[in-house]
Amino acid sequence: MGKQPRTRPEISLLKRYIPGKPIEEVAREQGLIRIVKLASNENPIGPSPKAVQALRGAIDNVHLYPDDGQFSLKKALSVYHQLDESHFVIGNGAVEIIRMIMEVFIESGDEVIAAVPSFAIYKQDVVQMGGKLVEIPLDETFHYDLKNMRNAVNSKTRMVIFCSPNNPTGTTIKKEAFEKFLQGLPSRVFIVLDEAYSDFVEENNGLNGIPYVLENYPLISLRTFSKAYGLAGIRVGYGITSSETAFYLNQVRVLFNVSSLAQTAAAAALADREHYQKSREIVWREKSFLYSEFRKLGIEYTETQSNFLLVKIKNDLDVFQSLLREGVIVRPGSQLSMPGWVRITIGKHEDNLILLHALEKVLQQCRI
Ligand SMILES: Cc1ncc(COP(=O)(O)O)c(C=O)c1O
Repeated sequence: MGKQPRTRPEISLLKRYIPGKPIEEVAREQGLIRIVKLASNENPIGPSPKAVQALRGAIDNVHLYPDDGQFSLKKALSVYHQLDESHFVIGNGAVEIIRMIMEVFIESGDEVIAAVPSFAIYKQDVVQMGGKLVEIPLDETFHYDLKNMRNAVNSKTRMVIFCSPNNPTGTTIKKEAFEKFLQGLPSRVFIVLDEAYSDFVEENNGLNGIPYVLENYPLISLRTFSKAYGLAGIRVGYGITSSETAFYLNQVRVLFNVSSLAQTAAAAALADREHYQKSREIVWREKSFLYSEFRKLGIEYTETQSNFLLVKIKNDLDVFQSLLREGVIVRPGSQLSMPGWVRITIGKHEDNLILLHALEKVLQQCRI
């Protein structure tokens, strides 16, 4: 092998995130035609038909660069959230905004506090900037241990990341507990509140990042069009923060980061409240259905406020592989810092039936 080019030292510390397996890959590997993907918390009923229609209309203009100022989508978000446009940062998925946040705030030696298990991308982006992720385990009920997280704040702490509902546990942080955490927190500590799954919260936990932004807390609330809006493949997410922080995030934003098709689809999906509501209701209905079926099968599960849940399966990697052979893609907890559990996205009814059938079969085979 030739001489390796020199890279920044942080680059050798990175571990590529393993996403849910794509349908095409499983079809290729298993020689199957019917595949059900319940691995990446996508929308159970697909994209908004209005977004699809808008995309068809926009396709003839793909020879033109997108609007780098993202005027129409920002306007639509500003009307929807009743906030000035200066508060928004729009990214190629919320993951791009997480990257921008680290680029703007994290210097070598900085500490960032987050929970574990939580969304693995946080660590990747912190490490890439030379920072250190201080991981505080969730408590035994899989909720944030806010006391331990608060105790971990020290002079090196630059940021704290909260994910509510948390991926992969589906648990939320209560408003009162969050506010207690904020009390007396040094203003140099920036708060990331990842609300990618907040559209699926069914309980009334009251947590919402926007009021804190308006009260001038150093905070960003992250949202996405990948889940409740059904546009994961087109990649649009956004952050809501102070105008000043939004300005700095936009300074590092890659030129033309959100394609013209993505901007058009997101604005149309935002306007389609019917599809949004239908998506949420299907998740809520199917969640109850899955709970009752798991109980019948004697499978332990976690209650969720999101569009995925965890089931307790000791040999999660074996069951994951066996389910692949049945044409069902899930996520083994061993890939999510949760060995002994399997994360399953709540699908549409037909898909959930296929999952349950396959799971019952596989568990019978795997039970020793
Ligand atoms: C907690 C969390 N935040 C953010 C994202 C990223 O969403 P996007 O598709 O907008 O990049 C995900 C995706 O799965 C997620 O689980």
